[in-house]
Amino acid sequence: MQAYVAKGPDGVEALSLLEVPMPKLQDDDVLVRVRAFPINTGMTEQLGGTLKAAYFPFVPGNELVGEISNDPLGRYAPGTKVAVAFFNGEMRLTGLNDQGAYAEYIAVNANYVFPFESDLPWPVLAAIPGAFATAWDALLYVSQAQEGQSVLIRGGTSGVGLAVATIAKAKGMTVASTTRDESKLASLRAHGVNDPVLDNREISGKLESQVDVAVHLTGFSTLGDTLQCVKPFGIACMVGVLGEYETVHTGSLVSPHPVDYVPHAVRLTSRRGPYPGRKEMQDWVDGVAAGTYQMPIDKVFPYEETVEALKRRKSQIGFGRIIVEMGHG
Ligand SMILES: NC(=O)c1ccc[n+]([C@@H]2O[C@H](COP(=O)([O-])OP(=O)(O)OC[C@H]3O[C@@H](n4cnc5c(N)ncnc54)[C@H](OP(=O)(O)O)[C@@H]3O)[C@@H](O)[C@H]2O)c1
Repeated sequence: MQAYVAKGPDGVEALSLLEVPMPKLQDDDVLVRVRAFPINTGMTEQLGGTLKAAYFPFVPGNELVGEISNDPLGRYAPGTKVAVAFFNGEMRLTGLNDQGAYAEYIAVNANYVFPFESDLPWPVLAAIPGAFATAWDALLYVSQAQEGQSVLIRGGTSGVGLAVATIAKAKGMTVASTTRDESKLASLRAHGVNDPVLDNREISGKLESQVDVAVHLTGFSTLGDTLQCVKPFGIACMVGVLGEYETVHTGSLVSPHPVDYVPHAVRLTSRRGPYPGRKEMQDWVDGVAAGTYQMPIDKVFPYEETVEALKRRKSQIGFGRIIVEMGHG
């Protein structure tokens, strides 16, 4: 089979499309035929060496949709549609410390494939799992956001940010959402955002103590400013480190002391797996099909142009998810 292989932390251009052996199934694995995958900034940063891979060479890619090709234990029929996204806990971290999605086939632990039924095109489906799972958990479970509340999304044009916005709107919340790029403000509004905000790294002048919940995706340097936007007894959930992957040191404490940057009575939390269940995956897919949820797609690339897709992600141009589809065009 073919797979993109990163030989070292030399950036997206160093990725080679190679003929490699079919993945070996471990106990409890299923073999999935990859149909489409999104391109996200975590992967471009990993390929550039800022977010470290556990080893090289490796096949990147931490989200995908595809079909069961072989389940040795017979739990899934061949052709069953499934989603796979990056997981924590006992799961091998797909595309982070285990072979990833930029390949024709992938071996995945059967407990961590999410089966679903849908006639939506593969690129539309590929835009859903990782972004919706993260957004759903951060907004509704970790932050306990409720109908009628106000939500701020810092890093609002990211896949996760767009998913938070569409879920929040569907649940009757009002949404403020940021971009650093003035030309994307109108697209955020068209996505349903009530208050698109230009992020010049200081938005608390406009939104001080105004929101019930903030989903923060832009790292430590803007965290204090986001916290200033949250009402007393409101919640800020730090989920992402866009632009600041070099600051991630698992297990280390963040400096300075929280007393210096968490406002009085504002609660700061975070989210990191596990993901919501199989019912939610089907609900998101059905919700996108019904128009309850929107997930804009910037551009779909054929598999042979995966490096071009990664370069587009790095360029930050375009609005919506960038998808690679096997056999596209
Ligand atoms: N905790 C978890 O479980 C979990 C799960 C999934 C993802 N994440 C994290 O969540 C974040 C979003 O992930 P994603 O895959 O949705 O991202 P993505 O779609 O790749 O994000 C692309 C967007 O990032 C923004 N961006 C890029 N560099 C930035 C910078 N220096 N400062 C601010 N914004 C910047 C750009 O927005 P503009 O140009 O419009 O400003 C761009 O539209 C990432 O940090 C990812 O690692 C966490």
